[in-house]
Amino acid sequence: MLAHQRNTELAITGVLFYANERFMQVLEGEEEAVRALYELIKCDSRHHSVIAYADKSIVERSFGEWAMAFQPSSPWQAMELAGYLGPTDVAVEVASLSSSDKKLFDLLRSFTLP
Ligand SMILES: Cc1cc2nc3c(=O)[nH]c(=O)nc-3n(C[C@H](O)[C@H](O)[C@H](O)COP(=O)(O)O)c2cc1C
Repeated sequence: MLAHQRNTELAITGVLFYANERFMQVLEGEEEAVRALYELIKCDSRHHSVIAYADKSIVERSFGEWAMAFQPSSPWQAMELAGYLGPTDVAVEVASLSSSDKKLFDLLRSFTLP
């Protein structure tokens, strides 16, 4: 099953950045669904050293319209991986992020920038 299909079924939204062989991903959804997907992603042998930087409840989604928004620097490998892309359509400035989340988001995103 493609990632975006599963995400749609599980009502998971988020964003996925990829560059320099690193991913940064935000997963949003019901706690049980997010935890189950995170376990699945962690066990994916295509990558390693998975780190959770934040894990908390939220009042509303910041990427609610996206089954997995994708902001690539080099989209092709991740296109295969995620099966869902809207490379140029993602608003990197997300108004609904709190100021602390925005700092975290920018920091993590910087790891994937060229
Ligand atoms: C960086 C990264 C992000 C991923 N994100 C998702 C995701 O958001 N949703 C998803 O279903 N699978 C995602 N995957 C794929 C899962 O790890 C897993 O391979 C896939 O869900 C297994 O599905 P399948 O066995 O039906 O092919 C991601 C994998 C990687 C490496």
